Amino acid sequence: MQNDLIASATDARLHAIAPFSGFKVGAAIETAAGRVFTGCNVENASLGLTVCAERVALLKALSEGERTFTRIAVVTNADEPATPCGACRQLLWEYCGNISVQMQSLNGSALIIRLEELFPRPFGSGYLSTGKSD
Ligand code: THU
Repeated sequence: MQNDLIASATDARLHAIAPFSGFKVGAAIETAAGRVFTGCNVENASLGLTVCAERVALLKALSEGERTFTRIAVVTNADEPATPCGACRQLLWEYCGNISVQMQSLNGSALIIRLEELFPRPFGSGYLSTGKSD
């Protein structure tokens, strides 16, 4: 159920550690077998080491051996459904392919689109094998 994944992301958002930005994010990623892994953003004093909710959820799943994914849900309290940052789009593309991305604000606004629409013309490992060594 779509709403179940949103509910998981909404719960995960409660654990967000965002004292610097005040912007709390929750994410939930679903595997092909139906398992759900959640994440929240984790900020720290150096700011640049902050990890987004989407990457926490994805890395938790990968570290548990999961390799096939169907959907990710992202919940924020922004005025409009917030889209994943560029770094998260890159990792999601590499490990999940063209999954469905469900973005939801606590105000009720929602957006569901495929990752290829959010991340056209991605960099991929194919370039590494066809690149010339110099
Ligand atoms: N953030 C996420 O968790 N996911 C995104 O896709 C965008 C940004 C977090 C990082 C930081 O803790 C806060 O939101 C503000 O950028």
